[in-house]
Amino acid sequence: MKKSNDKQYRFDGKVVVITGAAIGLGCSHAKLFAAQGARVIANDLGVNRDGTMGDNQALDHVVAAIKEAGGIATANYDSVENGERIIEQAMDEFGQVHVIVNNAGILRDKSFHKMSLEEWQLIHRVHLEGAFRVTRAAWPHMRNQTYGRVLFTASAAGLYGNFGQANYGAAKLGLYGLTRTLAVEGASKNIHANTIAPMLDSRMLEGLLPDEYRKQMKPELVSPLAAFLCHEDCNENGSLYEVGAGWYGKVRWQRSDGLALPPGEEVSIADIANNWQTINSFEQAHFPQDNVEAGMFMLKNLED
Ligand SMILES: NC(=O)c1ccc[n+]([C@@H]2O[C@H](COP(=O)([O-])OP(=O)(O)OC[C@H]3O[C@@H](n4cnc5c(N)ncnc54)[C@H](O)[C@@H]3O)[C@@H](O)[C@H]2O)c1
Repeated sequence: MKKSNDKQYRFDGKVVVITGAAIGLGCSHAKLFAAQGARVIANDLGVNRDGTMGDNQALDHVVAAIKEAGGIATANYDSVENGERIIEQAMDEFGQVHVIVNNAGILRDKSFHKMSLEEWQLIHRVHLEGAFRVTRAAWPHMRNQTYGRVLFTASAAGLYGNFGQANYGAAKLGLYGLTRTLAVEGASKNIHANTIAPMLDSRMLEGLLPDEYRKQMKPELVSPLAAFLCHEDCNENGSLYEVGAGWYGKVRWQRSDGLALPPGEEVSIADIANNWQTINSFEQAHFPQDNVEAGMFMLKNLED
């Protein structure tokens, strides 16, 4: 494929907050946004894969590399668990915030029967509550300026489930639930929210895929989709994309045509069991866009 010309997709003047920007996907995001002219707040707490403290040198290297290349970036060392501070710094330094890329993440994998409440809560605090805190703190500024782009980072483990990742999967799918509502609430203020579920070579994939695959799954193949979703020319809102290894696709809800029984009559368990095939048939599938459209199927059944 011919190398695309990214001159059109500039972020000049835009303040972009990227969480977890020291390594992996966040580092790739930070470098791309900065190369496209954004003023980047590169956040990272500098933790190990399991969330225990590591160091922050990698973040300093990212910020230095961006500056050396002529870009604008500032390091922020807070945890997303104190997401308000990241936005405070963005406002102090640049007076505005236009784009939030919620990317920071950790793992505490354990099969469900061994998972402790602490392991469940830590993952929710970092992924779901962390993204909430950062985004919630930026939201009033985005509303005031009638402009904002928010990106959340989910995972196939949330969309499809994965052994040992009950905590992570639940938090990750929660982020898409958050996206759907922010898309509705933000639309009138030109604030868009979308989610990506990426796959890329990082320490998160260690031991999961053979090295010859991993080395080709560059984070730089994911970041252009993230940047496009955060660009002012992109009208996408409330959407979910799977992305990795140079592959890009959209995911949406699909619902069967369903079984419509007369609501005025009694329904037995056998009525359900005997119609199981109809309830489960996707031959005439529907793709409801929102909860009003989804609810219409049930309300229509009252009229028929
Ligand atoms: N690598 C994959 O294939 C994959 C698959 C699905 C989803 N994801 C998601 O993509 C995102 C990026 O993953 P990655 O593979 O680059 O991971 P990574 O481990 O390489 O990088 C994550 C970064 O987040 C930082 N971080 C962790 N907790 C933080 C906190 N509380 N506050 C601030 N920073 C924090 C870490 O220090 C690290 O620099 C994560 O949300 C991850 O769950 C990755």
